[in-house]
Amino acid sequence: MKILFYDAKTYDTDSFNAVLDSYPEVEVEYIKSDLDPRTASLAEGFDAVCGFVSSDVGHDTLESLHKHNVKLVLMRCAGYNNVDLETAGKLGIRVMIVPGYSPEAVAEHAMALALCCNRRLHKAYNKVRENDFSLSGLMGFNFHEKTAGIIGTGKIGAVMCRICQGFGMKVLAYDLYPNESLKDFVTYVSLEELLAHSDLISLHCPLTDDTRHMINIDTIRQMKDGVILVNTSRGALVKTDDLIEGIRMLKFAGVGLDVYEEETDNVFEDRSEEILEHSTTARLLSFPNVMITSHQGFFTQEALSAIASTTLDNALDGMTGKESRNEVKAK
Ligand code: NAI
Repeated sequence: MKILFYDAKTYDTDSFNAVLDSYPEVEVEYIKSDLDPRTASLAEGFDAVCGFVSSDVGHDTLESLHKHNVKLVLMRCAGYNNVDLETAGKLGIRVMIVPGYSPEAVAEHAMALALCCNRRLHKAYNKVRENDFSLSGLMGFNFHEKTAGIIGTGKIGAVMCRICQGFGMKVLAYDLYPNESLKDFVTYVSLEELLAHSDLISLHCPLTDDTRHMINIDTIRQMKDGVILVNTSRGALVKTDDLIEGIRMLKFAGVGLDVYEEETDNVFEDRSEEILEHSTTARLLSFPNVMITSHQGFFTQEALSAIASTTLDNALDGMTGKESRNEVKAK
């Protein structure tokens, strides 16, 4: 079977080529363009297309793929909010995703952000490069014997709980569905209690109507002064303007963000030559206690390798008509 792989970056081709030998029946062609209504016709002669979080797999793209006889959409990510499942279903195009690849990758990055903004490593790195060996502005606090508050204790949040326990922290958690496997060392509390008692708050719940802007000026006011907030989940869990207000109120010792509301135009792009006129990212970065990365929580060798293998397994299941728990359909 032939797969046209859209929006291919070097790390994608490397991770897929490394496992392709185990899939002799699969042939992959990589292109730099992303999948959208204009580029869908490039899939003429291919059985499947492979897209990512930034692909436009809406109605027009799917119509064009159908016209060119493509039977399968392989998303190499967990999210599929950019896929029109209803149209795919009507056209008989199967859609497969990679639901969970490496929770450790994201949780370890969350702790990296927490440590980085606590000990001001982003500042220290630049200071030493400028021969400034003074310690002013670099004071942090020990995590040992402090309290971590983990919001959402599914796959990633559970790993984060274990990492925090390893640092000698007391671990509080808030989730609609407590995770039984954590109960010997995690104390489940209400959101209000978690906010009031945590020195480090890390967000690991999905973005839903209920969780959108769950971190806003009211919830920020309920937090302890000097708290560290980390978001590696989805940008819109945090209301950015309120976060900026909270930073100005000196609420936070540190803020570590792998995701933020404005990220869509930035993610995985080099915009270093541009002047970003209305950028709240720039406003956030003007604060010395804020550390931002560009949605790289998933970006480890292990996660990319798992994404490659699962996507190719999905390809085989998809083409042979096998049932798959990685297939997503309109409700
Ligand atoms: P999961 O589905 O295993 O866990 C989510 C947990 O959140 C569940 O335990 C669920 O009960 C809980 N939850 C749902 N609604 C809630 C609410 N209103 N309040 C409190 N808890 C609630 O998901 P997983 O795999 O742990 O991923 C978590 C999030 O991490 C994803 O939704 C995604 O947004 C993000 N993510 C970020 C990545 C990155 O590169 N930065 C990569 C992968 C995922």
